[in-house]
Amino acid sequence: MDIEIRAVEPDEYQLAVDVMSTAFLERPDVARVAGVVRDTWTPGRTLVAFDGAAACGTFRTWGTELTLPGGAAIPAAAVTAVTVLPTHRRRGILTAMAARAHAAMREHGEAAGVLWSSEFGIYTQFGYGPATRDATWTIKTHDTRWHGDVSGSVELAPLTQASADVIRDVYEACRPRQAGHLRRLPAHWQSDLGLLPPTFGEAWKGFLALHRDPAGVVDGYARYSTKTEWPDHIPQGTAEVEDLHATTPEAYAALWRYLASIDLVTVVRAESRRCMEPLPWLATNQRAVRQSSAIDALWVRPVDVPRALETRAWERAGSLVLEVAEPGDESCPAATGRWLLDVSPDGARCTPTDRSGDLALPLAAVGAALLGGTRLRNVVLTTGCDEARPGALALADSLFRTADEPWCSTGF
Ligand SMILES: CC(C)(COP(=O)(O)OP(=O)(O)OC[C@H]1O[C@@H](n2cnc3c(N)ncnc32)[C@H](O)[C@@H]1OP(=O)(O)O)[C@@H](O)C(=O)NCCC(=O)NCCS
Repeated sequence: MDIEIRAVEPDEYQLAVDVMSTAFLERPDVARVAGVVRDTWTPGRTLVAFDGAAACGTFRTWGTELTLPGGAAIPAAAVTAVTVLPTHRRRGILTAMAARAHAAMREHGEAAGVLWSSEFGIYTQFGYGPATRDATWTIKTHDTRWHGDVSGSVELAPLTQASADVIRDVYEACRPRQAGHLRRLPAHWQSDLGLLPPTFGEAWKGFLALHRDPAGVVDGYARYSTKTEWPDHIPQGTAEVEDLHATTPEAYAALWRYLASIDLVTVVRAESRRCMEPLPWLATNQRAVRQSSAIDALWVRPVDVPRALETRAWERAGSLVLEVAEPGDESCPAATGRWLLDVSPDGARCTPTDRSGDLALPLAAVGAALLGGTRLRNVVLTTGCDEARPGALALADSLFRTADEPWCSTGF
């Protein structure tokens, strides 16, 4: 295979966008999209694969932070625009681009790679494991009332840069409280409010509701769009919640109640929410607040296993020798090896050791379990493991899991 992989040059964005959109089965105005992404894609972090002069693959990352259990964050690389032309598939081009990108993550000091996967089967072999799940929630607004009183007030805000700054601040206050949250790019806030053209499709048009506490401080927001139908002249509107964050339970409750009270709206729908959302418990009729479409969400690949494991919090105490293997990938030595993992609610140590391993796991299994929401004993049904010490898997399973569910609310 005579394929060259290198960072995109300033005059090559159209080539990259053409490959990306073709692989994603889109037919956009390539010149327009290239103009958009030229301002937002970091050149050194956008890889393009070339077959001679023709581009045939793309792999892009952007620098972020991933919140771990306990609230501390690690530097992470968000992986996106992973594409290979249908004419060049299954020749190892993704494999080659991933190896380059993982080596670069290590050079950038990033301790993990994270992504959303278009298909389930692609990324386990590259060390990524499904670390969060999310679900769609639907409220039939006419079929329930709500417990308790609301406090504070809800107001509609203009779609301006000032509003983007306000909701960014709310999200930033939430970010350390939720394992799985990511630091978002500045452009994310602007395109969320329709202030920047999106890469594909139309600019967002919708509504932004802010919640203020009784002292007048903004402590939550809901960004939503609406559609209405009038079968038999009876309004059946839907409010589609695109983003909702609140720093207090009061703001959380008030925002959902606001959404469920909008006249002409009979259904409130929210994708990519936590599976264990508290929302139904606010309703007098939980059957009017239904969850569907629970699915894998954020995938995590540890790039620096000791750093990731020492940064996250642990709810139980225990010690075991963990052997992490990723055959065939020499790009990240800190991702594979044998470590003595010694953890307790007071902290963790993860140090190289010569002791024989208690439990050997593929890197993807560690990635899946890192955020505490995926049971290791389930993960190994897919990935396999080698349990040298009886009980090591059960111990690792109980150490890794957390009471709170991880959740990533940032699509990319
Ligand atoms: C996914 C994609 C980038 C794979 O590129 P590729 O160059 O064909 O991948 P490689 O040849 O390096 O494949 C390496 C391994 O991954 C496997 N693999 C790749 N894509 C896969 C998929 N969609 N499902 C299952 N396995 C897949 C291959 O079978 C191969 O394993 P093998 O060598 O043991 O057979 C390409 O198919 C694509 O562009 N798809 C459409 C866009 C997309 O969905 N991108 C992912 C966005 S998250």
